[in-house]
Amino acid sequence: MEKEERDLTELRKQQHVEKALLSSSQYNKTTLLEEIDFIHSSLPELDWEKTDVRASLFGRKFSLPLLITGMTGGYKKAREINIELAKAASSFNIPFGVGSQRAMIENKDLLPTYDVKKEVEDLFLIANIGAYQLKVYSNSQIESLVKDIDANALAIHLNPLQEIIQPEGDRDWENVLFRIGEVVDYLDVPVLIKETGAGISREVASSLASLGIELIDVSGAGGTSWSKIEYMRGGAIKGFEEWGIPTALSILLCRDVVDVIASGGIRSGIDGAKALALGARFFGSAKPFLQAVYEKRVFQLIEEWKNQLKTVLFLTGTKDIEEFRKKRPIIVGEKLYFYAKQLGVKI
Ligand SMILES: Cc1cc2nc3c(=O)[nH]c(=O)nc-3n(C[C@H](O)[C@H](O)[C@H](O)COP(=O)(O)O)c2cc1C
Repeated sequence: MEKEERDLTELRKQQHVEKALLSSSQYNKTTLLEEIDFIHSSLPELDWEKTDVRASLFGRKFSLPLLITGMTGGYKKAREINIELAKAASSFNIPFGVGSQRAMIENKDLLPTYDVKKEVEDLFLIANIGAYQLKVYSNSQIESLVKDIDANALAIHLNPLQEIIQPEGDRDWENVLFRIGEVVDYLDVPVLIKETGAGISREVASSLASLGIELIDVSGAGGTSWSKIEYMRGGAIKGFEEWGIPTALSILLCRDVVDVIASGGIRSGIDGAKALALGARFFGSAKPFLQAVYEKRVFQLIEEWKNQLKTVLFLTGTKDIEEFRKKRPIIVGEKLYFYAKQLGVKI
């Protein structure tokens, strides 16, 4: 790759972070999680301290069902951001993902911006690459993305909305599903498929499940809008600022097909609890953690969300996450109920 082109990739990575921090990068439409109310228990018969928010993913036990989803890497400041997030994730025992490693395939000098395990050893680390890139790179190049940073799993992201809005985006998505299947068969680490903020439908979840994919991060609409970010950078095809399946609906559409991580607009431990009650196994978040890096409060933010989750369990009279997911102590508002009904999904 030419030097000029490499500089542009690094500049793009930096711009993404800067634009994502602006409030104008967020959807106007909501996740629909606000449609959910919990059924309050006035007599919990529990000790708050003992409410147990531990949860399993990838066959591992984590201290809470929260994942810091992939965001960055590929330019200088990204190393600082990733290390800050990795330290907090390791200390709380929650999984953490780096952003797309495409830049690292093109320029090996960028490896340190993703390679956080050199500094933070005890970490469940998730590597990241765009699904489209699977058409460009070989199976062994994808495998080396995982190996080079000693990752425990790989997230393959789906971002057709972002690509189509960008003037320089990748537009030929034929055969992407086929390549996902080949890569999943080739790799010996677990693979998760994630959206990047526009949500996953039941049809797409079923196609992925037919390839043996068992875990999907729906990353639905209602939080960071990648079309808005690309419009700020001069997006080409107008009118798609609010495109996407709201997170709450996407959880309902996918939860009977695969195990679901819920991200996209999760902005508190209470939002996370709502996602779990709808059927997600874990919840994930990106922008709030990026912001917390800049405000030097990543540890506080995780602690805050953990306490909120514990409090939801306590106030619904539930002792642990498994019981909470089974009990589903929620009531759902008209709009989400109607959307789900239209698509033949039971709440
Ligand atoms: C600055 C930034 C960069 C991102 N880069 C990636 C990426 O490289 N790969 C990826 O899978 N998702 C990426 N995402 C998407 C997030 O992982 C997440 O799916 C999306 O932002 C929705 O979550 P949120 O509303 O909590 O931000 C990025 C998000 C942000 C904010």
